[in-house]
Amino acid sequence: TERTLVLVKPDGVSRGLVGEVISRIERKGLKLVALELRNVERDLAEQHYAEHAGKGFYEDLLSFITSGPVVAAVVEGPRAAAAFRQLAGGTDPVEKAATGSIRGDFGMEVQYNLVHGSDSPESAEREVKLWFPDL
Ligand code: GTP
Ligand code: MG
Repeated sequence: TERTLVLVKPDGVSRGLVGEVISRIERKGLKLVALELRNVERDLAEQHYAEHAGKGFYEDLLSFITSGPVVAAVVEGPRAAAAFRQLAGGTDPVEKAATGSIRGDFGMEVQYNLVHGSDSPESAEREVKLWFPDL
């Protein structure tokens, strides 16, 4: 079995979509093994999004992810990372995320795309350690 990191980003929390996201994770058959509402320090945001350092949207991304509380979760199941990415939909909620996915159903803008999911089992391992070092 495999673990992945899921975030409900500040837009998802402020719009009241935490329950919706958790519900979809549970209904899919994935298992929650950690769940926490927390404020994100700049340092954690930089480490989390290190792969995007230097890109045009990087500063906006860091400002956004530190702008309010997020819900961080560790989710477990066979192919958990791929399974949650399928639930989330593509990065752009309008042009890439299918209707029926979280982003496709609830999102309008790339920056405000509601959720994060680790993009591979290797990323997941790194991100779970970063967010939940005691797990
Ligand atoms: P995450 O699960 O958040 O990592 O999204 P992703 O894996 O689908 O996309 P990626 O890792 O490529 O980008 C990380 C995040 O940066 C995205 O979720 C968006 O919020 C934001 N982002 C990506 N591309 C753009 C862009 O072109 N413009 C803006 N403003 N934000 C972007
Ligand atoms: Mg990503």
